[in-house]
Amino acid sequence: MNIDDLIVGFDRALRTLAAGSASVRPYPAEQVESPQLAEADRAHAAGLMRVNHSGEICAQALYAGQAMTSSSVTLRGQLDHAAREETEHLAWTERRLGELGAGTSLLNPLWYAGSFAMGAIAGLAGDRWNLGFLSETERQVEQHLNGHLDTLPEGDARSRAIVSQMRIDEAGHAQMAEDHGAARLPLPIRAAMRMTAKVMTATAYRV
Ligand SMILES: [Fe+2]
Ligand SMILES: [Fe+2]
Repeated sequence: MNIDDLIVGFDRALRTLAAGSASVRPYPAEQVESPQLAEADRAHAAGLMRVNHSGEICAQALYAGQAMTSSSVTLRGQLDHAAREETEHLAWTERRLGELGAGTSLLNPLWYAGSFAMGAIAGLAGDRWNLGFLSETERQVEQHLNGHLDTLPEGDARSRAIVSQMRIDEAGHAQMAEDHGAARLPLPIRAAMRMTAKVMTATAYRV
């Protein structure tokens, strides 16, 4: 790590948090019609999509932290590729939140900072552990998105289309990490990651 990395990292954090992410791939909800949702359904869908948006803020931060401290050039390239897909997820969830008449989480800077630190620590632990952390994170996100598909309002086909595509991509990120030799993290670490994610999701649903 050198001073250039730090400046690039800081610039990236500001751009992630300043909203207005761009998507290169088509918006998964583009051709999908959703009926007008009842108020309770709209509010619930907005809460879930706010959680997903904050999750993508965390993903940006994790990848940035992991890439900053990783000593492997190849791995940094892989992390960068996955991070670009996460930028699309960020843009899609942000757009859907707007359609639902809701805003992003006020605590996003906090989620970003915490995730960046966690990613940086994982990067310092070496490639196998760094990849292990990535694979575990993405597998947990995949399970979490499965849960959202169960609880999103039946009629909210647009949110469902977005979450479904994200789930496919997250599974791909986990697979990439596993193909490159990810280590299986010890149970206490996996449990701690679940706990941390629970705090974030419960909070971001509301604020
Ligand atoms: Fe994502
Ligand atoms: Fe991902």
